[in-house]
Parts: sequence; C-alpha cells; structure tokens
Amino acid sequence: MRPIIKTIIITTGVSLFLIYSGYLYSHLPRGEKPLNTLADQGKMNWQKYNCGACHQVYGLGGYLGPDLTNTYSKKGADFITALLKGGTPVMPNFHLDDSTIHTLVSYLKDIDATGKSDPRTYTINSDGSIQQ
Ligand code: HEC
Repeated sequence: MRPIIKTIIITTGVSLFLIYSGYLYSHLPRGEKPLNTLADQGKMNWQKYNCGACHQVYGLGGYLGPDLTNTYSKKGADFITALLKGGTPVMPNFHLDDSTIHTLVSYLKDIDATGKSDPRTYTINSDGSIQQ
C-alpha cells in the first residue's frame, strides 16, 4: 500500500475517533439529578454494610439477592423498612437503627428515580447510546 493511502486512512480514523469522543463527552448526562444529603448518607451506609455484595443497583452488584433499583416503587418504603428491621430467613438482620434505615430507604428512593433495572425497557438510539 502506498504511504499516502496509509496516512489518509490513519488520519481519517483518528479524526473520526476524536470527533465521536468529543460528541460523547459533551453529551454526558452530568448533574441532571444530584443525590440529596440523606440519600448520600444512605449510599455510605449501603457501602458500610456491604449491601452490594448480594444486591445489584442499576444491574451491578452481587446476585444472591434481587436487584434493588426499582424496589422502592414496586414495594414501597414501609416494606423496605420492615424487611430491614426484621431480616428474612435468607437475608441477614443487620440490627440497624431507625435513622440508618431511613437513609437506606432514601437512597433506594433516589436510585429508583434515576434508573430502571429491566434492560428490556431501554430504547437503543442510532448512536449506540440508550434512552430510558
Ligand atoms: C448476605 C446477602 C445479603 C446482604 C449482605 C443484604 N441482602 Fe438484602 N436480600 C438478600 C436476599 C437473599 C433477599 C431476598 C429475601 C427473601 O426473598 O426472603 C434480600 C432482600 C432484600 C430486599 C427486598 C427486595 C424485594 O424486592 O423484595 C431489600 C429492600 C434488601 N434486601 C435490602 C438490603 C440492604 C439495604 C442491605 C444492606 C444493609 C442488604 N439488603 C444486604 C440478601 C442480602
């Protein structure tokens, strides 16, 4: 292959890469919905008690327990509070105090408002990104 053709192919490839990367980074869904402070504390408690070892949020995490992304809208705050207070035969009771439980419920409420766990509900755009 002649060197000029190689140069054209490489230059075109690099240019397209840079243009597409620039487009993607300028359209990041940044700052659309910041976590509120209660949900922030809930996230810290989520990490402290390692809930993610058994549960997924946004589809990421452990697989022993169910995905919790939309548990808040499906089952409600009272159900989550009762479950966290008592545990179940397959989920440990962490003996959390009421305020810790309150932050975790707030975190799950925030997660619920910002994502869907079911990938079948996504629409794939022509540029490969997804829309909920
Ligand atoms: C050792 C694994 C494990 C850990 C750690 C764990 N869970 Fe669970 N969790 C489960 C399992 C298993 C279930 C299903 C319970 C059942 O069906 O009886 C569950 C169920 C739940 C549910 C009810 C979900 C639904 O849709 O019914 C919630 C809410 C929940 N967990 C929250 C938490 C939170 C918050 C933490 C951290 C404080 C946590 N879990 C830590 C295993 C775990």
